Amino acid sequence: MHDILSQLEARRSTARQGGGARRISAQHAKGKLTARERIELLLDEGSFEEFDMFVTHRCTDFGMDAERPAGDGVVTGWGTVNGRMVYVFAQDFTVMGGSVSETHGAKICKIMDMAVQNGAPVIGINDSGGARIQEGVASLAAYGEVFQRNVLASGVVPQISLIMGPCAGGAVYSPAMTDFIFMVKDSSYMFVTGPDVVKTVTNEVVTAEDLGGASTHTKKSSVADAAFENDVEALAETRRLIDFLPLNNREKPPVRPFFDDPARIEPSLDTLIPANPNQPYDMKELITKLADEGDFFEIQAAFACNIITGFIRLEGQTVGVVANQPMVLAGCLDIDSSRKAARFVRFCDAFEIPILTLVDVPGFLPGVAQEHDGVIKHGAKLLYAFGEATVPRVTVITRKAYGGAYVVMASKHLRADFNYAWPTAEIAVMGAKGAVEILYRSELGDPEKTAQRTADYEQRFANPFVAAEKGFVDEVIMPHSTRRRICRAFASLRGKKQTNPWKKHDNIPL
Ligand code: HXC
Repeated sequence: MHDILSQLEARRSTARQGGGARRISAQHAKGKLTARERIELLLDEGSFEEFDMFVTHRCTDFGMDAERPAGDGVVTGWGTVNGRMVYVFAQDFTVMGGSVSETHGAKICKIMDMAVQNGAPVIGINDSGGARIQEGVASLAAYGEVFQRNVLASGVVPQISLIMGPCAGGAVYSPAMTDFIFMVKDSSYMFVTGPDVVKTVTNEVVTAEDLGGASTHTKKSSVADAAFENDVEALAETRRLIDFLPLNNREKPPVRPFFDDPARIEPSLDTLIPANPNQPYDMKELITKLADEGDFFEIQAAFACNIITGFIRLEGQTVGVVANQPMVLAGCLDIDSSRKAARFVRFCDAFEIPILTLVDVPGFLPGVAQEHDGVIKHGAKLLYAFGEATVPRVTVITRKAYGGAYVVMASKHLRADFNYAWPTAEIAVMGAKGAVEILYRSELGDPEKTAQRTADYEQRFANPFVAAEKGFVDEVIMPHSTRRRICRAFASLRGKKQTNPWKKHDNIPL
């Protein structure tokens, strides 16, 4: 008996060695942790339960039968993050470069199936040389099986991808279909075709980092949602994100203990809006002043900064925030910000996360490039996302809410539940200057008259009361009491049930 036990321990110990000491050192030398070290940091101490530790590949070509490392280049299983269950797979670059074989893929599929069945998030740690070259089409099939599961799991359980090494070719499409992608600066990259192929085909010379590093994907392409300094930070922030999310689409997000008075008055908000309507202010200040303990988890902080998206808690409950940022492009909506916010709104709606919308939007960004690149269709994404959302929704207009953008930004007309406005709100078809230029074109030669007309228009429309008179704004509130008002509003909506007409699925303007 004792022998059998020690044999098991010996086999386990070999499996835990992955590709061996030399390759582990090489991994560390690149500033990267091993698959097992990553899982250890991601999960609560001692909570990891591994599956398929002894699985080996079945390939016999290219002399592969001589080497069958236990686990086949991916560590899979489940554990807990602050006591809540998650499934995890971590590709082990020390075993054949973490390349994906038939069995490697099957291990990932197994935990994805269990995650969907048992209702817990999937966290995938990607660090792989791609399809196992020796296995050919069997490897492609394995990817296909994973992709199919990514699609079916979407909207059922949260899926989070951490890119912690290479992720190239078709392999990128698994993370691409997950809800959030986190990358590590300088040690991870994602691209469909690498620098060598790019050089051959288009003659462009580019480094892997420039083509698909963390900076590129968080600032330019928006493929990734956040970039972190190293593996440790990325894993710690993943734990933080998980704390905001429900385990699946049938559960409510977790309620955390909170130590911040929901009725907290914030006098500084009474002077947040500058006297000059063209002067910006930082919308993030408002978000952090509303949030429990000022805690804000921002998503896509470096992309389309004219809109802010992320998670806060109010009375311990997760709330998704979408807010125009007057500091960037005056808070205008454009193609990138519409896409960014639409995806975020749809995530929140899929996972029953209430949405707080903070509005200061002068309209859609004008420009030939915007029109030619399809701002009509992309802007419609955000309109569509807000229009189909059935989660509790509270909207606060702090300043500008003009034209179509007023409607898009979770207006009453798109079924928001509470629409508040600060006394500084200006809700109209357009700004006073633009309106006067159209309505009184013949008088434009007379600056005095034009100034009078502008002042009249401002007096009549640059306020929240016209909308309030019509019931489009439920109440004009004091800025300093905003936290109390929105906490009470969301509390009143905890029993909300709203459904859309039956359909197979929608046809969002993609
Ligand atoms: C089998 C692989 C491998 C692969 C790496 N290895 N990639 N084995 N299949 N795809 C092995 C290496 O032989 C080596 O084994 C070990 O992993 C580490 O690789 P190195 O090259 O020494 O590491 P490094 O210098 O860090 O370079 C990493 C790399 C490079 C850039 C990822 O290995 C590379 O270019 N690999 C090939 C990438 C590729 O073309 N993959 C197919 C892409 S197409 P030893 O024994 O020496 O440790 C694809 C399609 C997916 O993925 C389609 C989905 C539908």
